[in-house]
Amino acid sequence: MNVSIFTCFGIREATVHCLHKAFFIISLGFATRNFEAYLACGVNMVKSAPPPSPSLLFIAAGVALLLVLPCYGWKTSLYVRKLEKTVDMPLNADVFEVPPGYNAPQQVHITQGDHVGKGVIVSWVTPNEPGSSQVIYWKGNSTWKNKAEGKVTTYTYFNYTSGYIHHCTIHGLEYDTKYYYEVGIGLTVRQFWFVTPPEVGPDIPYTFGLIGDLGQTYDSNRTLTHYEKNPKKGQTLLFVGDLSYADDYPDHDNNRWDTWGRFIERSAAFQPWIWTAGNHEIDFAPELGETKPFKPFTHRYRTPFKASDSTAPFWYSIKRGPAYIIVLSSYSPYAIYTPQYLWLQAEFPKVNRTETPWLIVLMHSPLYNSYNYHYMEGETMRVMYETWFVQNKVDVIFAGHVHAYERSERVSNIAYDIVNGLCTPVSNPSAPVYITIGDGGNIEGLANNMTEPQPKYSAFREASFGHAIFDIKNRTHAHFSWHRNQDGYAVEADSLWFYNRYWHPVEEPGSI
Ligand SMILES: *[C@@H]1O[C@H](CO)[C@@H](O)[C@H](O)[C@H]1NC(C)=O
Ligand SMILES: *[C@@H]1O[C@H](CO)[C@@H](O)[C@H](O)[C@H]1NC(C)=O
Ligand SMILES: *[C@@H]1O[C@H](CO)[C@@H](O)[C@H](O)[C@H]1NC(C)=O
Ligand SMILES: *[C@@H]1O[C@H](CO)[C@@H](O)[C@H](O)[C@H]1NC(C)=O
Ligand SMILES: *[C@@H]1O[C@H](CO)[C@@H](O)[C@H](O)[C@H]1NC(C)=O
Ligand SMILES: *[C@@H]1O[C@H](CO)[C@@H](O)[C@H](O)[C@H]1NC(C)=O
Ligand SMILES: [Fe+2]
Repeated sequence: MNVSIFTCFGIREATVHCLHKAFFIISLGFATRNFEAYLACGVNMVKSAPPPSPSLLFIAAGVALLLVLPCYGWKTSLYVRKLEKTVDMPLNADVFEVPPGYNAPQQVHITQGDHVGKGVIVSWVTPNEPGSSQVIYWKGNSTWKNKAEGKVTTYTYFNYTSGYIHHCTIHGLEYDTKYYYEVGIGLTVRQFWFVTPPEVGPDIPYTFGLIGDLGQTYDSNRTLTHYEKNPKKGQTLLFVGDLSYADDYPDHDNNRWDTWGRFIERSAAFQPWIWTAGNHEIDFAPELGETKPFKPFTHRYRTPFKASDSTAPFWYSIKRGPAYIIVLSSYSPYAIYTPQYLWLQAEFPKVNRTETPWLIVLMHSPLYNSYNYHYMEGETMRVMYETWFVQNKVDVIFAGHVHAYERSERVSNIAYDIVNGLCTPVSNPSAPVYITIGDGGNIEGLANNMTEPQPKYSAFREASFGHAIFDIKNRTHAHFSWHRNQDGYAVEADSLWFYNRYWHPVEEPGSI
């Protein structure tokens, strides 16, 4: 027994998470004697410093305490991966191909178009002339075709002029139904399909995919491919911000917004992508005369914000099957009295966990992040909103921004009041799990520099590209899995059974 305790210490891959706590307790017993070895925590202590016989006593005490004390995962994966530079796919890459035909619609994508899932916003770009903003759609086995009229817009950015950007909202769809739709009516017509979600309600299985900070590199393409080929089929993608990374190019080359739109069409035309605004959507560039934040993003990507009484497209909510999803903006004002603050305050009372058991929040900048990238950038929003998240028993908060993966324990840090000194995160069963999924694979590369030692609130962290799946089974259980791009499509590099915070608020196995 003592061998396994001393060889793992919670930082080795595939170890029992709690053992470091026992080790910590044990090490108190003979701290002076083994202190150096304790500091060199990855070292096999049994070989280097055999414990003295009294330690058996402490081991027994440690194991006993282990059973009663809360314990943290505290795991940095030691998965070894080749550190390669991320490289954008060239303009002539297959994924950027312009569809054939005069004025053929391109960059087709859909998102939810109302509050409950009976609406869809269809968006696309026509390159040569405006053409029609009409969408023709029909149920899978029906011959009756419906029409919806959209609108067309364009914008300029420095010396770039966009194509004709169409947005058309379809309302009044039936739940749980496959629809075909066509765009480009009158000229080159292209056909796609989507499936509406099941009726909003508590015990409906539904599977969400999660991608963040995608960009348009070869790694981005791998991430999207792994998402598509995962045997667990995501039905809707929750995108946690930073889309095209066009702003990393000279003059924010907006042609890279177009290539990105063509790249993601193969998924986003067939299932809704739920949009969160990231810092790469701001495109604020006074040196180019571009002083209106979010200009390309708001022209190209729509959200159903009005349906949730929001006054701006960057923060809003939707219900989808068993989930209530709140999207927040890390880059819009969120202090007290601001529109986003007042909206969020009014939003929580509207969540009915009998109707939608799962309360999910999306934002770009993580509130808990133990990497040396964007460290503490989420701190001000944490101070503003964390109490609400805990009081309202949010199940999980997904964020991006940091180009890596990290999962937290259920912790909160809301006791501090400037003078009481209570400023350390503590285990809290009402707190959300915080997951950073900013590992889509963009041109800026991996975040592989972590704060050391790993904070206790951090359950698992790894600098690899990938995506995640949040698979809701019923009102009490959801299965979360993180999939790294180097693995086979079905491999779960990290996973956790989520227990719903409202219906089944007990400790999750594995989240120790
Ligand atoms: C459409 O077809 C599906 C099976 O393909 C069937 O289950 C459904 O009842 C049909 N709906 C109508 C309205 O005919
Ligand atoms: C925009 O300006 C850049 C130089 O700043 C130039 O390389 C590019 O060709 C220009 N594009 C257009 C469409 O004029
Ligand atoms: C992107 O991935 C798809 C497979 O999903 C593949 O067909 C395509 O060739 C890839 N393109 C590039 C440029 O890697
Ligand atoms: C919550 O939702 C349930 C199920 O839809 C419904 O019966 C109940 O009336 C709702 N509660 C409130 C306060 O609206
Ligand atoms: C990691 O980040 C820390 C803190 O920002 C910095 O001091 C250190 O030099 C970085 N290490 C590497 C290898 O970049
Ligand atoms: C909910 O789903 C979990 C996991 O599939 C299952 O073990 C449990 O029995 C389900 N609960 C109900 C009430 O069906
Ligand atoms: Fe970001």
